[in-house]
Amino acid sequence: MCGIIGILGEKDVAPLLVEGLKRLEYRGYDSAGIATLSNGHIQRCRAKGKLANLEDKLGAQPLSGTTGIGHTRWATHGAPTEDNAHPHATEKVAVVHNGIIENYAQLKDELEKLQCRFETDTDTEVIAHLVTHYMTQGMKPQEAANAALDRLEGAFSLALIFAGEHDLLIGARQGTPLAVGYGEGEMYLASDSYALAPLTRKICFLEDGDRVKVTRDGAQIYTNDNTPVERDIRITAQSGAATGKGAYKHFMLKEIHEQPAVIGDTLNSFINPATGTIHMPDDALAALEKAPRLTMIACGTAFYACMVAKYWFEQIARLPVEIDVASEFRYREAPLPEGGVALFVSQSGETLDTLEALRYCKREGQTIMSVVNTIESTIERESDIVLHTLAGPEIGVASTKAFTTQLTTLACLALALSVRTGKVDEQQAAEMAEALRHVPAQTAAVLGDHESPVQDIARELFEAKDMLYFGRGLLYPVAMEGALKLKEISYIHAEGYAAGEMKHGPIALIDEHVPVVVIAPGNDPLFEKAASNVQETVARGGEVLLISDEVGTAQLKDHIKWHITLGDVHPFVMPILYTLPVQLLAYYIAVTKGTDVDQPRNLAKSVTVE
Ligand code: M6R
Repeated sequence: MCGIIGILGEKDVAPLLVEGLKRLEYRGYDSAGIATLSNGHIQRCRAKGKLANLEDKLGAQPLSGTTGIGHTRWATHGAPTEDNAHPHATEKVAVVHNGIIENYAQLKDELEKLQCRFETDTDTEVIAHLVTHYMTQGMKPQEAANAALDRLEGAFSLALIFAGEHDLLIGARQGTPLAVGYGEGEMYLASDSYALAPLTRKICFLEDGDRVKVTRDGAQIYTNDNTPVERDIRITAQSGAATGKGAYKHFMLKEIHEQPAVIGDTLNSFINPATGTIHMPDDALAALEKAPRLTMIACGTAFYACMVAKYWFEQIARLPVEIDVASEFRYREAPLPEGGVALFVSQSGETLDTLEALRYCKREGQTIMSVVNTIESTIERESDIVLHTLAGPEIGVASTKAFTTQLTTLACLALALSVRTGKVDEQQAAEMAEALRHVPAQTAAVLGDHESPVQDIARELFEAKDMLYFGRGLLYPVAMEGALKLKEISYIHAEGYAAGEMKHGPIALIDEHVPVVVIAPGNDPLFEKAASNVQETVARGGEVLLISDEVGTAQLKDHIKWHITLGDVHPFVMPILYTLPVQLLAYYIAVTKGTDVDQPRNLAKSVTVE
């Protein structure tokens, strides 16, 4: 993963590098570092852990210099120590790197035979030594960088500065993103346009295989066979404003509470204000109408949005849907139907596995559609048809508002398609559209009514070592999402299952030490089956938290230990509204445990390596 930035500035760049790294910290927070040129010499400051540690060090020992690079790390090769923190450097060159150098061991071996001394366990250090080796043989910096780049295998983006070269920044992109920013007398490189938005709105996204020589006068881009190439410079729509927590203790809690507004914004972008009907882009509906099959691919929470959408597309629009996690799909060599549509769901729009799955489907002739939150992301740029979720920046590592706005968008798409293909009649369509229009207000009501009771339940559950989540039909993916939320931020082992699978294995885990969350609204057609699962759990000493409505809670109240009881919810929109209690539960259990909710251990917001 990792975020990289480079600046050729007019004044000292260290503060600008740190500000840029703050906007890249979603890509990793194991360590951070910067390097600048001071009187032509490379100087570095690096710190283990979050960016705040680097800021403290820089406060005590500021770095001067108008040329610099910076890095925020998610460790791949080598523990998250200060020694392994980027930039990696020799006396001649400093480098920051996002990605993995797959042939680093072989290169390291070769360089060690040439008497290079390695000081870190990283793959990145070979780049610094390789460039230095070529420079020692008489090559100029750009030539040496090119020679080194020709030797590297893997997916990476890089930024390099050179001792004595005050007006030079070299960048390269192969598989992971890199953008060039054009300022007034200043030039920039960064992993994304979001990092550069406070500095410039003029952005050029490099393509795979591109290399770039940046000076204060501009940027010259070359393909990897050294052919000069022009790439579009666009004006970014990213906001340069800083995203704060406001009065909230964590970004995650703020983002949970933003859901009524952002679901409303997303919905409004698809509602015809005159008729109240759902309208989706014609090219999206036309492609789906003709498609023999829809293939939906994503990772993590976004994959659970695909799981929910499969029910919607199949039940309402009668369109066959295949879903898969991107990391499996991309290597599966799946045969895809002629005229098929492949739909990719991603908050960041940068998840590498999802992107590679997209590229596979493109090669196989599918129409590429995406549901993305981050504007100008790579997935957006490589899609034929894009539907935006209007969740706004999501900073907490645990996805919340991105998920519910993905569900909102996919519900609108499935409904609009069913109307177009005549699979639902006018009355059914109007009823479902109305159910969707009520979601923002119902979201606000669920959050308002249940936050405090959920805190009480969390205080009873936070010491659990394991938890199980069960749901059926549209609420099976919500059970999976609830378990994922809990494990990633509280580190409690949790699994989500289709409730019907209980007797096929998970029931063996049930005893008085394993709390069981059952998501089963009373007006769900599958409620009676879920009710049996509750009885079977209780019969084996399990303690149940039931998330249901008045009807469901009334029927099971003598058997369950805790309940969260929502008002009436139309079955079509249940997955959106029943997600809210599992988000709150995970959040308050984590807060009660005292874990780092927004930046949990080992994770990063955006997974840009495989
Ligand atoms: O940016 P993406 O939506 O492509 O990210 C996919 C997953 O990495 C992401 O949903 C992850 O599972 C979250 N941490 C879950 O909360």
